[in-house]
Amino acid sequence: MNFSLSNKAIASTKTDCLVVGLPEKGTWPHSTNQADEALGGLIKKLQKAGDLSGKNATTAAIPLTDQPWGRLLVVGTGNDADRTPANYRKALIAMMTALKDGPSKSVAVALADTPVTGDDAVSSESARLSLIGRTLEDQLYTFSDFKSEKPTARKLNKVVVVASSATKDLKDAFNLGLATGRGMNFTRDLGNTPPNICHPEWLAQQAKKLAKDYDCIKTEVLDEKQMEKMGMNTILAVGKGSTQPPRLIVMEYRGGKAKDKPHVLVGKGITFDTGGISLKPGEGMDEMKYDMGGSASVFGAMQVLAETQPKINVVAVIAAAENMPDGGASRPGDIVTTLSGLTVEILNTDAEGRLVLCDALTYVKKFDPAAVIDLATLTGACIIALGNHATGLLANNDDLANELLAAGERAGDRAWRLPLWDEYQSQLDSNFADMANIGGRPAGTITAACFLSRFAKDYRWAHLDIAGTAWHSGKAKGSSGRPVPMLVDYLMSHAGK
Ligand code: BES
Ligand code: MN
Ligand code: ZN
Repeated sequence: MNFSLSNKAIASTKTDCLVVGLPEKGTWPHSTNQADEALGGLIKKLQKAGDLSGKNATTAAIPLTDQPWGRLLVVGTGNDADRTPANYRKALIAMMTALKDGPSKSVAVALADTPVTGDDAVSSESARLSLIGRTLEDQLYTFSDFKSEKPTARKLNKVVVVASSATKDLKDAFNLGLATGRGMNFTRDLGNTPPNICHPEWLAQQAKKLAKDYDCIKTEVLDEKQMEKMGMNTILAVGKGSTQPPRLIVMEYRGGKAKDKPHVLVGKGITFDTGGISLKPGEGMDEMKYDMGGSASVFGAMQVLAETQPKINVVAVIAAAENMPDGGASRPGDIVTTLSGLTVEILNTDAEGRLVLCDALTYVKKFDPAAVIDLATLTGACIIALGNHATGLLANNDDLANELLAAGERAGDRAWRLPLWDEYQSQLDSNFADMANIGGRPAGTITAACFLSRFAKDYRWAHLDIAGTAWHSGKAKGSSGRPVPMLVDYLMSHAGK
């Protein structure tokens, strides 16, 4: 697929399909007026007659003759006053639905001049171009590696996005959007890959491949022997029940100054979560292949950095293990000593995410981080609390929490903060060790974060529970690519100019 930005007038843009926006109520964008003029007032006539409503996210294709455009795709963009970024994105998705299996080979998209409500961070032309870029990539995603019958090839192969000028700022914004979409798609590929292929060592190979493909990424992988030497006993305890040994994967992107402290991303990489000896019920267990979704989003974000080369230092650490129940597996009641020296009584082997993360959180101290953000499909309780729309956010620092919330708002990839009050900590009391790995049914997402907080005392830290947002269930089962957009927005807001 060929994507490009153009500031050529649409009247002289030859394409199979020109896409313009049509408000239901409000001021027409320049491009819509231009198209209407060239067509002798056809769009106005059709809207007046009721054939085109302009209702948000509706589409209508009109075949044309004697025009530089083979057809016109009119995308309804609703009322000017109601056009939030979320509604604008719905209109973009509707456009892609019409285009992706449509007859047009080449398309010119003139939707960046449709105004959107909100402050400049979400309503500028560059923000719209970025969102268009991301949506182009994101909506063309397919995953058919394991189907013997491949879907028929798409006709669409060229998309030109119309911009008011060809300044570097607009181009950068569009390219960042495209890269973000590709990052999401990389995340989805990793998540969707079946767990008999996607195991800890396979994830390590993906990290090595990223380092091979991009000079700016360096990868180091610790195997089980190295982890044993260091005393990473909790991640080892989780991996013990599997024939696939655990890995600690470290990727570094250093685009900033040598003295700039790195932002550290830590991903939960449970490539399959059976629950271990505390075995999960069978129904829907296949979805526990997505239990490496945190690490998949870290991979996606790293690829975006590698492609766009911002001035920032970022370290990614992935705690990869498979949680299986065999004779070597940890038992409920086992006590292990974490890398930090604190001891943990494993009362439930299904609370394994926090066990692999705690050693990783201790390990990352050595990078002297500006901030540490961990990402994990950590608790079913988070789905009960927030459903599938918001990522759960818990943090030991208000500024960091607010930065992530704002990044999520801007990117349309939102999080919602839950409290991390001391009152919850006692739910982790153990009779035999420094702490238990479960805190009972009340506030399961919070007590999981309380557990992690004990290993994250030495730096600014935030935890993103993506149990409800990393993948879709049901008919549209598949990885969502979240929260790559939030992470990218956060990281870019910290990049030097
Ligand atoms: N990976 C799961 C959490 C999960 C479950 C995410 C379902 C998305 C959908 C995690 O390892 C887990 O099993 N957590 C337990 C914790 C409990 C034993 C304290 C849970 O949520 O039930
Ligand atoms: Mn589990
Ligand atoms: Zn899990």
